[in-house]
Amino acid sequence: MNPDTPIHAARRARVAAQLGEGGIAIVPTAPVQLRNRDADFPYRHDSYFYYLTGFTEPHAWLVLTSDGRSTLFCQPKDLEREIWDGIRLGPEAAPAALGVDEAFSVDELDQRLPKLLENRATVWYPFATHAGLEGRIDGWLQKVRARVRFGALAPEAQRDLCAVLDEMRLVKDAHELDVMRRAARISAAAHVRAMQRSSRMLRAGQEVREYHLEAELLHEFRQHGSQFPAYGSIVAAGANACVLHYRADQAPVRAGELVLIDAACELDGYASDITRTFPADGRFTGPQRALYELVLAAQQAAVDATRPGARFNEPHEATVRVLTQGLLDLGLIDRDQHGGLDDAIARRAYFPFYMHRTSHWLGMDVHDCGSYVEPSEVGQVSERRDPLSGELIKDRPSRILRPGMVLTIEPGLYVRPGDKVPAEFWNLGIRIEDDAVVTDDARFAGCELITRGVPVAPDAIEALMAA
Ligand code: GLY
Ligand code: MN
Ligand code: MN
Repeated sequence: MNPDTPIHAARRARVAAQLGEGGIAIVPTAPVQLRNRDADFPYRHDSYFYYLTGFTEPHAWLVLTSDGRSTLFCQPKDLEREIWDGIRLGPEAAPAALGVDEAFSVDELDQRLPKLLENRATVWYPFATHAGLEGRIDGWLQKVRARVRFGALAPEAQRDLCAVLDEMRLVKDAHELDVMRRAARISAAAHVRAMQRSSRMLRAGQEVREYHLEAELLHEFRQHGSQFPAYGSIVAAGANACVLHYRADQAPVRAGELVLIDAACELDGYASDITRTFPADGRFTGPQRALYELVLAAQQAAVDATRPGARFNEPHEATVRVLTQGLLDLGLIDRDQHGGLDDAIARRAYFPFYMHRTSHWLGMDVHDCGSYVEPSEVGQVSERRDPLSGELIKDRPSRILRPGMVLTIEPGLYVRPGDKVPAEFWNLGIRIEDDAVVTDDARFAGCELITRGVPVAPDAIEALMAA
């Protein structure tokens, strides 16, 4: 038996207990995706499915019923296919390996699902997540209805399983936090490696390209057993850092410019997410350091605001306050046009330089699931108009942070050339991103930063890059 099997079994039991009398839940894993001609993208399982099974093969489905029974459908053993594609667990071995009650070949899915759905009250499945899933369920339900003369009743209700699973996934258990800490350590070491390669090559007079630094990241990820990058690596030299979703490409990395790297690994199904910005040759210039220290101060304010009982929005609000004051002080926001700090925040004068949020949930998915609204307060709506777009926004009370929630803290500043923008800041793009576990452990002041294996202080970065 896989050592994590009892964890997955316990999660299945928690789901089963929430399905209500006569409930049944259907969870498919992710489809195989064709890349080009007959080559597939690297296969990545579905996160919900993995959360409940720990099973990473494609072509698999989990069915749970409210009495706690679990049925797995998976690829059958097939010697010829296994010679080409690799060993399959197979339905015979699945109950012992995964702790499910029974398992069948996925080839039997269409034949068995109508029977499993018969006389059930409610069918649960993840809404709007798998193309074609609703159609398949409709087909099975039609088959149940066709058996009405044999006394078969079809479920009268369909419910979104995401609502149940998202709440469970939002608060990580000790096993998940252990994996996430390990993923974070690998990613931090990868950033250290990329920083050091940049300054070492430039010192040696070698030409550095963004892909050289990406190669260091990928090497470190794989060297420590990570299966994939958690998302497409951003390695952005110079002005490229102002493109939020820039991908590592081939632009030259030049002495005197900053490099922004937003890259991190996925380990055993869990993501990490780190951004560091550093001087390519290991020495910040004056304007680079001024802007960097502002982003770092904004991040510290957000870290200080991240603790159990605080709202999810509080770190963002703290960030915006520090950044806006700094932008006023550095002359990037025009005091004559926008007034003081509160007016500038109310008018979102910071937005041309800081246009994303400070945090998102982190877990199996890099932008992990989980509502950002406090569930018990979802009905408390207030309305306002966005000062820039004029759009009507409905605000609901933001989520209350609890121990075990994991979020990123990632303020940034992105300065494009502009008439009223001091030229020394043009084309600087800076983001600092760490992963925070909300905790009431007295060793931490509300959150544990699990990504600080790579430094953030400018002096520490310079020292690392000089080494
Ligand atoms: N790397 C994706 C993000 O920071 O949200
Ligand atoms: Mn992030
Ligand atoms: Mn990131």
